[in-house]
Amino acid sequence: MSKQGLNNEPRTTPFLHYAEWFELAESIDPQPQAAAFATSSAEAMPSVRMVLVRHWGEEGFDVFTDLRSGKSRDISSNPRAELNWHWKGLGAQVRASGSVISIPSAEVEQYWSGRPRESQISASVSNQSAPIEDRLALDRNREKFVETINDDENILLPDNWGGFRVVPVRFEFWVHDDHRFHHRIEYRTTSQGWRTQILQP
Ligand SMILES: Cc1cc2nc3c(=O)[nH]c(=O)nc-3n(C[C@H](O)[C@H](O)[C@H](O)COP(=O)(O)O)c2cc1C
Repeated sequence: MSKQGLNNEPRTTPFLHYAEWFELAESIDPQPQAAAFATSSAEAMPSVRMVLVRHWGEEGFDVFTDLRSGKSRDISSNPRAELNWHWKGLGAQVRASGSVISIPSAEVEQYWSGRPRESQISASVSNQSAPIEDRLALDRNREKFVETINDDENILLPDNWGGFRVVPVRFEFWVHDDHRFHHRIEYRTTSQGWRTQILQP
């Protein structure tokens, strides 16, 4: 138990550990799904950006995005990534790294259909991470798109939009403690299941 009262003893699986901490984070953090998402390019250049982990379970952690973005290009050549949540109010950090797979299209469709219409429009007109001459051009693209659809018309899932699932092979649970004497525990998958060890701060 850390000084903050957060239990960092090993659980049967890291998913149980994550579930307990996530529930606590939800009660104090306005956006507990926010995580840093690290990928690396074919040339081994790292890249990290914030994302929202919209869904998670033992099958992995799901991130939705434009399939032409920087992260998507990285993942196409190196399908590995790490997620990092920092829940400041809990004094906790969680890392989960592993391989990345595409989220099945039926699940992408389901998520897309539940998104606010305005967000669907934004995703439909934005070529994420591609440059554009100015903001006005982006606004014009949006207006043009809106002119082509009826108010009650469903906005179709764009071909270039989808999601990635991080399937973790390693987790780290970190709790702040005084004098930088933090508590860290690592889980790794092995042929016998999840193995844990304590890491020095
Ligand atoms: C809190 C927060 C959450 C974000 N969530 C997402 C997300 O779920 N999906 C996404 O594509 N971009 C999200 N973004 C934008 C990304 O950080 C990033 O700007 C974008 O994905 C393009 O990055 P890339 O070219 O490296 O792929 C988020 C940004 C912030 C600050």
